[in-house]
Amino acid sequence: MPKVLLIGAGGVGAVVAHKCAQLPEVFSEIVLASRTKSKCDAIAAQLPRPCVTEQVDADNVPQTVAMLRKHKPDLVINVALPYQDLHIMDACLEAGVNYLDTANYEPPDHAKFEYKWQWAYHDRFKQAGLMALLGSGFDPGVTSVFCTYGRKHFIPELTEIDIIDCNAGSHGQPFATNFNPEINIREVTSQGRFWHDGKWAETPPLSVKSPFTMPEDLGTLNIYLMYHEELESLAKHIPELKRARFWMSFSDNYLKHLEVLGNVGMTRIDPVRFNGVDIIPLKFLKVLLPDPASLGPLTKGKTCIGCQLKGKDAAGKDSAVFIFNICDHEACFAEVRSQAISYTTGVPAMIGAKMMLTGKWSGKGVFNMEQFDPDPFMEDLNLYGLPWRILNQPVFQTPNL
Ligand SMILES: NC(=O)c1ccc[n+]([C@@H]2O[C@H](COP(=O)([O-])OP(=O)(O)OC[C@H]3O[C@@H](n4cnc5c(N)ncnc54)[C@H](OP(=O)(O)O)[C@@H]3O)[C@@H](O)[C@H]2O)c1
Repeated sequence: MPKVLLIGAGGVGAVVAHKCAQLPEVFSEIVLASRTKSKCDAIAAQLPRPCVTEQVDADNVPQTVAMLRKHKPDLVINVALPYQDLHIMDACLEAGVNYLDTANYEPPDHAKFEYKWQWAYHDRFKQAGLMALLGSGFDPGVTSVFCTYGRKHFIPELTEIDIIDCNAGSHGQPFATNFNPEINIREVTSQGRFWHDGKWAETPPLSVKSPFTMPEDLGTLNIYLMYHEELESLAKHIPELKRARFWMSFSDNYLKHLEVLGNVGMTRIDPVRFNGVDIIPLKFLKVLLPDPASLGPLTKGKTCIGCQLKGKDAAGKDSAVFIFNICDHEACFAEVRSQAISYTTGVPAMIGAKMMLTGKWSGKGVFNMEQFDPDPFMEDLNLYGLPWRILNQPVFQTPNL
């Protein structure tokens, strides 16, 4: 019976552990490993069935290989940080274990994510007879599945994608990020980038904004154009795609704090000499900010993440749909003691793992989400906590770019 080994005991790791524990028929054994074992033990103590815990530094490949050889899992779910992706992929290759993650590799000293480093592992995974599934969170992850589902069932000629990620929730803290602060702030302060007429175009960070009225009376928020990793794999796998953009909501309060932190140098990722030691300001800032896992009991409200898809239907007529999920922070906390940002990432990680372990998604090599049949994944989203809806009309008037 399948055994899964999770690496990373943060906000997302906790949700994946809870959701895997709810499905003993798929995940018969769970091992939870992370840099700080006490965090694994705290999560294991909340689960309804036994979960073995381990201490590991996933940047140490021989150490990770030894752990994998000891436990012999069928699959590693990597929910540590993007910096660990390549090291964990190396360990999986050496120990002969399949691999899944939720975030694209990033070099620690350069705030840039690109699939080229992980795509370069394709032949090695293929030759080893192993599968690696990249980006099985919500965005990236479910957003790609929404796109392939819309293309399969409604808009076979999919020319335009707008991914819209709104958080209408509030945690009441002066400034906090909903997932790892370092990764979040690196992403948000990067250049905006979007796919336009078959090539990439760039905008200064957070310089393009537009109001967006969410469905189901959730209200109107300002959303900002950003670069996000699924744009790269969608542009690769959907050849007819002409335009693809990613938008995220931020409150004025969040942006005010971010601007000041940026102005004073606190978001820098280069070393600064302080009292004879090198410190990286953003890493230091992370220590000062609330741990995202601590926001669970404080966060109220809902998230709304969806994809507006435009193109031509099977009859060649112009067509548009919006496929989206709404997730309630407090309901997530009641179920797995996490807020909706960790929940919306952890549930798709569990479903991606289920797709692999049950053979619904299979292959040898390195794959992105949009390379597989979206239907079984979409069915599982409805079953395991992230129900979706479709509106057969455009919901967002995209600004001219
Ligand atoms: N696709 C999506 O929709 C989406 C959305 C949100 C987040 N994510 C991704 O999900 C991942 C987890 O995010 P999170 O919010 O859970 O982050 P987090 O709360 O900071 O948790 C990260 C965990 O990884 C552990 N870790 C870090 N370095 C490690 C190492 N070298 N060896 C072993 N463990 C290590 C940390 O250990 P310590 O406790 O010792 O620090 C921590 O337990 C990130 O990659 C993030 O980018 C994806």
